[in-house]
Amino acid sequence: MKKIVIPHTGLEVSELIYGCMRIRGRWSDDPLTEEEITNGLISVRAALDCGINFFDHADIYGRGRCEELFGHLWKRENVKRDALILQSKCGIRPGVGYDFRPDYIQKSVEGSLKRLQTDYLDILLLHRPDILMEPDAIAETFETLYAQGKVRYFGVSNFTPALQRMLQSRVSMPLITNQIRFGLGFTHPVESWLVAGGGQEGIRTRGEGILEHCMEVGVSVQAYSPVVGGGIMEPIQETDSERLRNLKEVLQTMAKEKGVGTDVLALAWVARHPAGIQPIIGTTRPERIQSAAAFGNVKLTHEEWYKLFIAARGQNLP
Ligand SMILES: NC(=O)c1ccc[n+]([C@@H]2O[C@H](COP(=O)([O-])OP(=O)(O)OC[C@H]3O[C@@H](n4cnc5c(N)ncnc54)[C@H](OP(=O)(O)O)[C@@H]3O)[C@@H](O)[C@H]2O)c1
Repeated sequence: MKKIVIPHTGLEVSELIYGCMRIRGRWSDDPLTEEEITNGLISVRAALDCGINFFDHADIYGRGRCEELFGHLWKRENVKRDALILQSKCGIRPGVGYDFRPDYIQKSVEGSLKRLQTDYLDILLLHRPDILMEPDAIAETFETLYAQGKVRYFGVSNFTPALQRMLQSRVSMPLITNQIRFGLGFTHPVESWLVAGGGQEGIRTRGEGILEHCMEVGVSVQAYSPVVGGGIMEPIQETDSERLRNLKEVLQTMAKEKGVGTDVLALAWVARHPAGIQPIIGTTRPERIQSAAAFGNVKLTHEEWYKLFIAARGQNLP
């Protein structure tokens, strides 16, 4: 697995990120069962064996049980802490909304550290923008967490460029990434590249400017749910819309021609964008993790990238 250094950090990470949201299948406060621990171990072991060292978490995944499970596993497997890059997120507050107040962030990080059985997070992301966020208070909280040695780097998730810019104007350390939804099942972040030229009917414009902004300031982008979206990986079904059927056909034909899985193509499509986007996979099946890990060997041509894009949007370009 190829390693890259995240800009503005010394962190050397696998080009593929393993997302831990599904390692404990159910969202429940019930204690982990032995069976869940064994299943979690199989998935995480598969990711490690493929050379993945970058793991994405959030305080809320499985109501904390996903972090707890991961904490068990890396200790049990005697993995060295410095062989792992652990990223977690905070700010989604079940029952309330979003919360970036200092006490909530501080408590959330402490909870994540305890569950993950570690003294520090390599990266902390703010999960979804808190509309009531106070940027100066966040800046102070980040500085405290950094000074306490609890977090090494900070970033955001699901932030618009304007919000990212506004927060960065108050925070002294670089916000090193924006984690967003992007893939063949959700092409909005590149639809905005089409709007300036007119002929805009049908252009889906949510998420505009995110990739452009990250490229401008040299900040990395992480793409979550790269294979989810309308069941693009599933076999063609009678109930599929014309657009979905056509996308599946294009994907399956191209995958056959290239001798790779459709999941690998979907990841290669994300990574082909010049913003240098890192996909985050979430499958728990070892064979799918192994297959996905080879995505870096597949380089899409300019023509192939557009063919998939046009099929995904279900409409010709303007
Ligand atoms: N920042 C955010 O707001 C946010 C939001 C969502 C997720 N995330 C992060 O992103 C990570 C990845 O998200 P994700 O799990 O949605 O990503 P994903 O890899 O696009 O989707 C995984 C899901 O797709 C299924 N799948 C994978 N390959 C398949 C295939 N070839 N055929 C059929 N089904 C397939 C998996 O089922 P199997 O397990 O059965 O293979 C699993 O249910 C999460 O773990 C989390 O860390 C972040």
